[in-house]
Amino acid sequence: MDFKVADLSLAEFGRKEIRLAEHEMPGLMAIRREYAASQPLRGAKIMGSLHMTIQTAVLIETLVALGAEVRWVSCNIFSTQDHAAAAVVVGPDGTADDPKGVPVFAWKGETLEEYWWCTEQALTWPGADGPNMILDDGGDATLLVHKGAEYEKAGFVPDATDADPEEWHVIIGLLKRTVTDEKRWTRIAEGIKGVTEETTTGVHRLYEMHKNGQLLFPAINVNDSVTKSKFDNKYGCRHSVIDGLNRATDVLIGGKVAVVCGYGDVGKGCADALRGQGARVIVTEIDPICALQAAMDGFQVTTLEDVVGIADIFVTTTGNFNIITADHMARMKHQAIVSNIGHFDNEIDMAGLAKTPGIERRNIKPQVDEWVFADGHSILVLAEGRLMNLGCATGHPSFVMSNSFTNQVIAQIELFTKTEDYPIDVYVLPKHLDEKVARLHLDALGVKLTQLTKEQAAYIGVHVEGPYKPDHYRY
Ligand code: NAI
Repeated sequence: MDFKVADLSLAEFGRKEIRLAEHEMPGLMAIRREYAASQPLRGAKIMGSLHMTIQTAVLIETLVALGAEVRWVSCNIFSTQDHAAAAVVVGPDGTADDPKGVPVFAWKGETLEEYWWCTEQALTWPGADGPNMILDDGGDATLLVHKGAEYEKAGFVPDATDADPEEWHVIIGLLKRTVTDEKRWTRIAEGIKGVTEETTTGVHRLYEMHKNGQLLFPAINVNDSVTKSKFDNKYGCRHSVIDGLNRATDVLIGGKVAVVCGYGDVGKGCADALRGQGARVIVTEIDPICALQAAMDGFQVTTLEDVVGIADIFVTTTGNFNIITADHMARMKHQAIVSNIGHFDNEIDMAGLAKTPGIERRNIKPQVDEWVFADGHSILVLAEGRLMNLGCATGHPSFVMSNSFTNQVIAQIELFTKTEDYPIDVYVLPKHLDEKVARLHLDALGVKLTQLTKEQAAYIGVHVEGPYKPDHYRY
């Protein structure tokens, strides 16, 4: 088995944590039981690009339990939990000397070159051109296949320019090596039945590609299952934003001024958590609806410019770029904490910060840097501007990820087994499946549902067994 992880001797610790996580992931375990006999993913070759954590290990082993062959990478250079990666490679029945699990190419602290090398490895299938399914988070695996196929059609790979970010130079370098007359990426793309996408940012990319007529295979937008974005993005971040801040800095949050940029699902969870710690939370928004929601939830809403000099903690949650600029950071208080929990690292202008005249970077510990300005004052930047909850802590806890990942498994089964029902487009799962995911998590929390009577169901125009809301309902 080919794989590359940090240290297989961590597998035993990983396996212990996987065992604990399984108990906290009732949705995934119920799916394992439901499909144990029918093996709906037999024949599926699933390439996954999603944070290689303990929770993801339970996802991977669920896909395998349903019959799939799997190869995996992390979708972020800092988010791998090395004991989880080791345990997945070793597998439940293997040993470090005789690994019997799944090929994983991921370790905490990859360089960008290593990151994209890993993605290429996981897309390279022994005995086949590539995978027949992708499970993506942020869209990097989907991007690589699409760009490779696009440049093979054009017959050349354009050079990256000085205006392009460093990462694009790495991607172009990889494609210049791998785009050949054999049309490797085109063949990989042709073999893929579909992709299921985990997050807001990746979903945004998919809709863009489809709008521009570039999407090469169908996609299921897992993010917009209600049981994903209204739970993982919100309640997951409500937990892990504090975890990230605490593990990185251990600074008391109560009484501090915290700015949350963006009041979407992630921003709502972060603002709530920071308020829960006793911070005075200020929100920035561009959308009048979300700004009004923040105001009615009791937060001051203003521009970053207005408060950049008085806040102690900054968290970007927008999925947009250049939210905190180098100029903003220069004007912040001494030892202000700057962090991003959105998918990509361009929410904070790290390149601009590094170019500030007289600036000095002092590494405090992995994923925590103090940047000292020429005048002697400094700021603390978490995870080099990348998702701080996964870079500085361990991401979302198992229970909330069970909701997200149960959607992922159901979406993989849909696209793999009913390929003809899904011509190229971006889909969301039907509401009855969303309700099913929620239902699978109720018992564990001791929730007792009220049963509709036949008459009540008729009165509000639904079936007794659901779905209970029209598709346009927003929760
Ligand atoms: P969303 O679309 O619900 O929220 C983003 C909000 O930012 C929107 O309300 C938008 O109006 C606002 N915004 C955009 N530009 C802005 C600007 N210049 N200033 C202030 N506000 C601005 O998206 P969601 O689901 O909250 O996701 C946000 C990001 O977090 C995405 O990149 C997503 O992929 C990522 N994500 C990260 C997770 C993690 O564990 N770190 C978990 C889930 C999502």
